[in-house]
Amino acid sequence: MGVREVKRVRGGDGSSAEQFFRSFWPAVGPAVTGLYARTPVETRFLIRVLGLRRGDRVLDVPCGFGRHSLELARRGIRALGVDLNPRFIAEACGRARLEGVPAEFRVGDMRRLRLRAGFDAAINLFSSLGYYGEAMDQAFLRALCRALRPGGRVLLQVVNRDFIIHHLAPRMRYQAGPVRVREVRSFDLATSVVTTRWEASRGQRRWTGTLGLRVYAYHELVRMLEQTGLRVTGAWADFDRRPAVLGSRWFVLRGERARR
Ligand SMILES: C[S@@+](CC[C@H](N)C(=O)[O-])C[C@H]1O[C@@H](n2cnc3c(N)ncnc32)[C@H](O)[C@@H]1O
Repeated sequence: MGVREVKRVRGGDGSSAEQFFRSFWPAVGPAVTGLYARTPVETRFLIRVLGLRRGDRVLDVPCGFGRHSLELARRGIRALGVDLNPRFIAEACGRARLEGVPAEFRVGDMRRLRLRAGFDAAINLFSSLGYYGEAMDQAFLRALCRALRPGGRVLLQVVNRDFIIHHLAPRMRYQAGPVRVREVRSFDLATSVVTTRWEASRGQRRWTGTLGLRVYAYHELVRMLEQTGLRVTGAWADFDRRPAVLGSRWFVLRGERARR
């Protein structure tokens, strides 16, 4: 097996996730992930597989700095983005106002989502599941399902546990634009939590953060979606037409709420 470092660690239970997302990620995340470049292609794919039309309403949680919600809104789809981070939400609101597009943004906690607004679709993208443990993931998916109209759809993009265990690099160093990054990772066989310790620097500035991510195998994701009342109606390897397979890095899964 490709797991080179096996260690019991805390993580994936929310112990450090909130702190990571409040302090480390806003400073470093956007620079290291290069997320903007992929967004138009991803959004075209979402629109196609979710069957979205102008005027439809989409819930995007967590939305980060609103890249998908904004792109959807540029195409006439009304989006509501929710994220924990006030800085990302302020940035997203500013862009929506500047461009005059129908996107709204709110600071909110995905662990306490209480929307029952009949959305046509809901999205959870770029492995934004698994930060707060399995029970919380299940509760979050239930809340997403409740926010949909009957027949509404969910799209989930998450890393594939079975890819991770074969490709886990215990240590990585790289340069992302002006940011130097060091990541040290470990995988807990008992819980399927990948814990990453990050160190980043830009000139004299330094940041550190630790995040535990519960990674899921395909069958676990399907079971979780079905237990929350969503029927899985599509599974892809990424934001393209390739079907999900054992070695896919990502899974993009579509679930549908029953029509009545
Ligand atoms: C990897 S980013 C992905 C964001 C977005 N889906 C994208 O693709 O750009 C994860 C996001 O989750 C947000 N987040 C973490 N914990 C959260 C919580 N408890 N409630 C709401 N958002 C949260 C972070 O602030 C961050 O923006």
